[in-house]
Amino acid sequence: MTANRALRSSQVVNIGDLRRLAQRRLPKSVFDYLDGGAEAELTLAENCRAFRDVTFRPRGAVAIADCNLKTTVLGHELSFPAMLAPVGYSRLMHPGGEVAAARAAGEAGTGYILSTISGHKLEDVKAATGGPVWYQLYLLGGRDAAEGALDRAHRAGFSALVITVDTPVAGMRERDPRNGMKELLGPSLFAKIPYVADILAHPSWLVSFLLDGGVPRLENIVLPGKGSMELLDVASALSKAVVTWEDLRWIRQLWPGPIVVKGLLTGEDAKRAVDEGAAAVVVSNHGGRQLDSVSPTLRALPEVVAAVNGQIEVLMDGGIRRGGDIVKAICMGARAILIGRAYAYGLAAAGEAGVARAIEILRGDVERTLRLLGCPSVTALDRSYVEPPHAWSVR
Ligand SMILES: Cc1cc2nc3c(=O)[nH]c(=O)nc-3n(C[C@H](O)[C@H](O)[C@H](O)COP(=O)(O)O)c2cc1C
Repeated sequence: MTANRALRSSQVVNIGDLRRLAQRRLPKSVFDYLDGGAEAELTLAENCRAFRDVTFRPRGAVAIADCNLKTTVLGHELSFPAMLAPVGYSRLMHPGGEVAAARAAGEAGTGYILSTISGHKLEDVKAATGGPVWYQLYLLGGRDAAEGALDRAHRAGFSALVITVDTPVAGMRERDPRNGMKELLGPSLFAKIPYVADILAHPSWLVSFLLDGGVPRLENIVLPGKGSMELLDVASALSKAVVTWEDLRWIRQLWPGPIVVKGLLTGEDAKRAVDEGAAAVVVSNHGGRQLDSVSPTLRALPEVVAAVNGQIEVLMDGGIRRGGDIVKAICMGARAILIGRAYAYGLAAAGEAGVARAIEILRGDVERTLRLLGCPSVTALDRSYVEPPHAWSVR
């Protein structure tokens, strides 16, 4: 069965089904890069599990004629309350990569966040969608390269800048060295030999990868006098990526639009972001890929919401695999959600159509959950619709 027919079949009813299709199409090294987390993957698992701790409190005997899924984030109207998170190396998952994901987001009436670690030019990503696009900045390539990227992003029409602050170094994603990610992306053919059997066992991915020109360059990191940067493995890339509060002050001089700080888990850091002029924060632990054993994001959300106290918008990501998870996070105080793996599985399985299917599944879940809760709109969701554990109350 072709990927697109598989997407429409009764075999793809939830995000787990897209994950299985992605696993089938991708070489193990690429799938594990997408799917895996840091160290013992405790936070990766907890991000998903924490949603089980929060139960719903539905209102019975309520008929909803029109269920309104719309919300606004930084002044942009979204057709449903989830945007697509920055996902590096998307062009390795599928040649359509960031352009395909942005187009699917736009078609669905929502926004897309482009990672610095991207294989398509940011101008092409912007041109693919009528929806809002934000640029996520890492400083690999140094300040000169960042200045160039910010200027291009602003001129192309990116409306917000996302600064990710949870990557002082790369987390230890143990699946990557076992699968030879560094060797596979490196220049030495000899070093790749132990890992090629698995690549050859995935011919449809391999053909599309070769037709796309092989390992993409980092098109949005242009080194003065040298052109776009070569793709690095993630550990090398993130070892040079850190953005500090001092950098944020420098960036504020360069970027005229709103700045979103992504990767916070505590009230203290959230207050600092407010003081530094952020327009929004994203409660995030990078999908359990950085410091293992930090709290799941749903658990961290109430503390950040209380600390921010309505001064700026609070978004969250991590562990969203069903629309019901989106609804719970909004009830707990998030204005909207970012989804990472949930759409990346779709991208890896079938490009743009796979991302569209992921969004369609989550949107259907959100609408059904609202109706079952007896709540007419996303903006009417609040704590009264959920029962979190008592220990989660913010002191
Ligand atoms: C394969 C992959 C690559 C990622 N690359 C980036 C990145 O380049 N920049 C960034 O800020 N976050 C990155 N993230 C983190 C996501 O933006 C998001 O925080 C995370 O995926 C949310 O968790 P979820 O995957 O459980 O939805 C990446 C996540 C994944 C799974």
